[in-house]
Amino acid sequence: MQVTVIGAGYVGLVQSAGLAHLGHSVRLGETSHDRIDELERGRLPIYEPGLHELFERARANNLISFHADNHAAVEGAEVVFLALPTPPDGDGRADLSIIESVVRDLAASLTPSMILVVKSTVPVGTNARLRTLLDEAGCSASVVSNPEFLSEGSAVDDFLKSERIIIGTEHPSDAEVLRRLYEGLPSKLVFTDPISAELTKYAANAYLATRLTFFNAISNLSEEVGADVVEVLRGVGLDRRIGEHFMRPGPGYGGSCFPKDTSAMLTIARDAGYHFPILEAVIQTDRLQRTRIADRIEAIFDGSLEGAVIGFWGAAFKAGTDDTRESPALVIAKELESRGASIRMWDPEAETSEFAMATGPIDVVDEADLLVVATEWPEFLRVDLSEVAKAMRGDTVFDARNLLDPSVVRSAGLTYHCLGRPRI
Ligand code: UDX
Repeated sequence: MQVTVIGAGYVGLVQSAGLAHLGHSVRLGETSHDRIDELERGRLPIYEPGLHELFERARANNLISFHADNHAAVEGAEVVFLALPTPPDGDGRADLSIIESVVRDLAASLTPSMILVVKSTVPVGTNARLRTLLDEAGCSASVVSNPEFLSEGSAVDDFLKSERIIIGTEHPSDAEVLRRLYEGLPSKLVFTDPISAELTKYAANAYLATRLTFFNAISNLSEEVGADVVEVLRGVGLDRRIGEHFMRPGPGYGGSCFPKDTSAMLTIARDAGYHFPILEAVIQTDRLQRTRIADRIEAIFDGSLEGAVIGFWGAAFKAGTDDTRESPALVIAKELESRGASIRMWDPEAETSEFAMATGPIDVVDEADLLVVATEWPEFLRVDLSEVAKAMRGDTVFDARNLLDPSVVRSAGLTYHCLGRPRI
């Protein structure tokens, strides 16, 4: 099938490479000439495991082409995906201005048989809004909602092996085209109406954020009452209704989705006149998690971080990505810095201009008083902790991901602090 993807951001790149992998011919539209030049040269603007290989294969098989002009990109397409940013506005609402202006501009080039598919995370009612825009422009192409559920770091697998693909449309013929498009994937196709498809995306992310935040609170409570959160979660997770997934204690959620989507969902509820206190509490509790960690670190220094040197393992918001958007590592580091500490960071993939970056995991703790494990990169498990102990001025490790083995840390002569395990 001939497909167009508008937007060579994170979602658009994975969608393009995934569709080419299924044998479709993909035209990728992106208005940044620099980005197109990079892609033409075989360079990807993001780090995502497996994505480079998919792109190389798509290029070798002539299944992908890059277009700096969106009108040229949609030529001959049966399906046109919109994978454009929806950044939060001042109120936390997803800002649709980019999508709306692209749709207005593209309307003249969309033929009646084309299907415009909204892949970006958009507020409930966007499908209807775009329908109105197209009607006003005299364009009768269809609009289908097909939200993305990609996790950074496993996005290629999420595309190739996702549990479900949500397709929101009132038209059986459009549903059939999308069914053919995704043929070959093991995913369950869920056909529904556009509003339900739009809400499904927010409901899934808000639930996951809620679950994670709840278990972070259980971890904090374990600290207060002297329980071991690892034991608690083992006992809780064995209940089949709950399961052991997505409950790892940490510094709270970051990235491009959960912070943005939970806030956007609150505005959706507010606009609909629905009071949603549980979601308000999740957002507030999650923010407090970073402050709590900063407070615990400050307490290790007897309440004064003035002159403390702190090295961070990890800048990315989670392992497997170079993305630092809303990264808890950066939030905690900024908080510690504002309280007088000086910060250095090292991350296997991510870079940040906000802090001095070290050249490696030992360099970052050179003369440091404390090491914070802020991202759960498996690479950290392979670092020789006796080298860490030698390089440091102090001897304290604060593991904000419960990544390291406490006995291994201690046998290197270091003091170990982590989350929810006050007695280990
Ligand atoms: C998420 C959703 O999973 C995905 O379906 C959606 O489309 C986009 O948002 P992503 O932001 O890439 O994906 O990350 P995810 O792996 O879901 O993690 C979100 C946050 O929760 C990260 O900050 C992560 O570190 C944290 N997390 C996750 C934990 O602290 N503990 C866990 O057990 C799981």
